[in-house]
Amino acid sequence: MTQNPDTIHESVREHYAERIKNSASCCSSDACCSPQSSLYPADLISTLPSDISSTSYGCGDPITLASLQLGQTVLDLGSGAGLDCFFAAKKVGTTGKAIGVDMTPEMIERARASAQRLNITNVEFRQGYLEDLPVDSNRVDVIISNCVINLSPDKAKVLSEAFRVLKPGGKLAVSDIVTDGPLPEAIKKSMSAWAGCIAGALDVKDYQAAMESAGLINISVTPTYFNDAMIDEAISDLGTSVDLKSFSREKISKTVFSAKITANKPQENRS
Ligand SMILES: C[S@@+](CC[C@H](N)C(=O)[O-])C[C@H]1O[C@@H](n2cnc3c(N)ncnc32)[C@H](O)[C@@H]1O
Repeated sequence: MTQNPDTIHESVREHYAERIKNSASCCSSDACCSPQSSLYPADLISTLPSDISSTSYGCGDPITLASLQLGQTVLDLGSGAGLDCFFAAKKVGTTGKAIGVDMTPEMIERARASAQRLNITNVEFRQGYLEDLPVDSNRVDVIISNCVINLSPDKAKVLSEAFRVLKPGGKLAVSDIVTDGPLPEAIKKSMSAWAGCIAGALDVKDYQAAMESAGLINISVTPTYFNDAMIDEAISDLGTSVDLKSFSREKISKTVFSAKITANKPQENRS
């Protein structure tokens, strides 16, 4: 990928501002990443009004993965319209807190309006970048994120920021898109495929290595399912003139996955 980081931030921000304004899911096929009802358990979904629980741009269920406890402080990286923060706020109760960070003002605005409407008082949304988190060091028990880290132009910085804000012993529980093997260059270079959660996805091995370099331990990256609609979207956006070389659609769909990703910050803070 040769675009500079500012170009990526700007394109991704425009993409998601447009999505929330039109209240569509992150790919126009309603599929980046999956229909929310299949991502979360029904008893969790039923705790929120359907217009809010359906405004999801995620690719998994970091809430179940995180096993949240009463009293915890949770940080959601790329909180979008706020869905995972609302679930988290309910799980940690009023002695705990959920903080969402997102760079897109339209997302922050929607999330704050929904929090007010739902009267959820232990949630806060902060506008900012994952690469420069507006959060103090050693403050967060659990970091969650849903289909966002792949969108960053600097994953190493995102992970080192995650490490910084976690308390010693704190947990990372993330749903993200990963690859298992290389993608065609035409896709890697496509800004729309980047915004659609494919072109920026890291290979499983590189994801693990980046988490290790950030200082995280107990690392696990488990690919879960293919996302056919997301892949179709990325390919159709490229148009017919693009040569995918030997890559068939089938091969691409065997390369791109949603994944469950977990890790911890060690008990002893080495920084
Ligand atoms: C695919 S959406 C996921 C939103 C939410 N997690 C969900 O599951 O509905 C990606 C979100 O991440 C935000 N985002 C992407 N890159 C970011 C970055 N580098 N810093 C802050 N926010 C970012 C976008 O503005 C967008 O709201």
